[in-house]
Amino acid sequence: MKTLIRGRVLSFHADPAETDDSHRFWDNGAILVQDGRIVAVGDYGDIADPQAQEIDHRPHLVMAGFIDPHIHFPQVQVVAAWAAELLDWLNDHTFPIEAQYRDPDHAAHMAGAFLDQLILNGTTTACAFGSVHKASAEALFAAAESRGMALLAGKVMMDRNAPDAVLDDAQPSYDDSRALIERWHGRGRLEYAITPRFAITSTPEQLRAAGTLATENPGMAIQTHLSENHAEIELTLQLYPEARDYLDIYDRFGLLGPRSLMGHAIHLSAREAARMAETGTRAIHCPTSNLFLGSGLFDDHAMRAAGVVTGVATDIGGGTDWSMLATLAEAYKIAQLRGRRMHPLAAFHWATRGNAVALGMEDRIGSVQPGRFADLVVLDPRATQAMRLRHDKVDSLMQELFILQVMGDDRAVVETYVAGRALKPTAAAGG
Ligand code: GUN
Ligand code: ZN
Repeated sequence: MKTLIRGRVLSFHADPAETDDSHRFWDNGAILVQDGRIVAVGDYGDIADPQAQEIDHRPHLVMAGFIDPHIHFPQVQVVAAWAAELLDWLNDHTFPIEAQYRDPDHAAHMAGAFLDQLILNGTTTACAFGSVHKASAEALFAAAESRGMALLAGKVMMDRNAPDAVLDDAQPSYDDSRALIERWHGRGRLEYAITPRFAITSTPEQLRAAGTLATENPGMAIQTHLSENHAEIELTLQLYPEARDYLDIYDRFGLLGPRSLMGHAIHLSAREAARMAETGTRAIHCPTSNLFLGSGLFDDHAMRAAGVVTGVATDIGGGTDWSMLATLAEAYKIAQLRGRRMHPLAAFHWATRGNAVALGMEDRIGSVQPGRFADLVVLDPRATQAMRLRHDKVDSLMQELFILQVMGDDRAVVETYVAGRALKPTAAAGG
């Protein structure tokens, strides 16, 4: 069966920060979808197909679904936890809540809630940290598979400096990760991500085990945290006195590369930025989290100037908003505090194709092009009274996007398609 999704269609094929030829926009556009993939995109008149079932979203905008490259599944109930900063927040709130994901029933229940939140916010792919328990990753993969989502996830490896209920050991963390890889990696649209939480909670033996998993599974994603907070950095360097800096710890265990995603990466030396660029290692900006935990102001301009590929993410539950629109709003403000102004086209590229590039998945997701999966979000820039009032003064696509970025949230998400299926939960379904 073919579906024709009508709307005002926007798609990026390059980064607006790098070229003027970055996107296509069809005011009377349509996307032809078959078997979960985009078959054609263009003017409605050019691709209308009498055999296709038509869904008319005009006058809303249709673009590639948002991608969230750094988020914590077992932190659904950690958002808005009152704490001084990162290390207290982890110890006082986060670790106790993550301990509950040892229970497969709880993990399964929360996996549904987690994916519903993503879909409600127009996010069609995420790269997620699980809890230390194998059951957490099992539950999340199973729930993503039933929704047909492209999801990356891994159980966190952590074997010190946390309560026993959220600790494993080097060898069991290797064994569990390996079993999860065998069961889930490459199954449908699912991918495993090797997930050492961060250097503070891993012994050298465990980081070595993570490095072994990386060597045994070339090209597999790796996710961790880097240079988020001053106290964190100080403790990290005490634990690894032989390392020349924070990044060097991961480097020594073979954990850098184009599929390595470093959450935060705020307080880096020039050497660390250069080494990230040299190895292709990605920096993932988490603006709402960095503001909420008072961690610091990520310098996207400097990272890009150094040659580092960057992504932008919610970091739920250090992050405070599931919406990539709200996340882009805070990224805009952080750039302002750094004396830079982010163009709305660059912002929407970042949350879609840019994050696909960061994940190394731009051949499958992140743009509205034939051959890509039909992972789409439908956005209404007039979703609230305040947005409607503001919208009356708009006369360009750029301004419309900026309203969505600064004023938008889940209320602006009209529908979310995953592989061509409309998945937005309805209020009646308890969503
Ligand atoms: N560093 C190590 N673990 C975490 C986490 O769960 N959230 C954040 N923001 N930083 C971390
Ligand atoms: Zn994180």
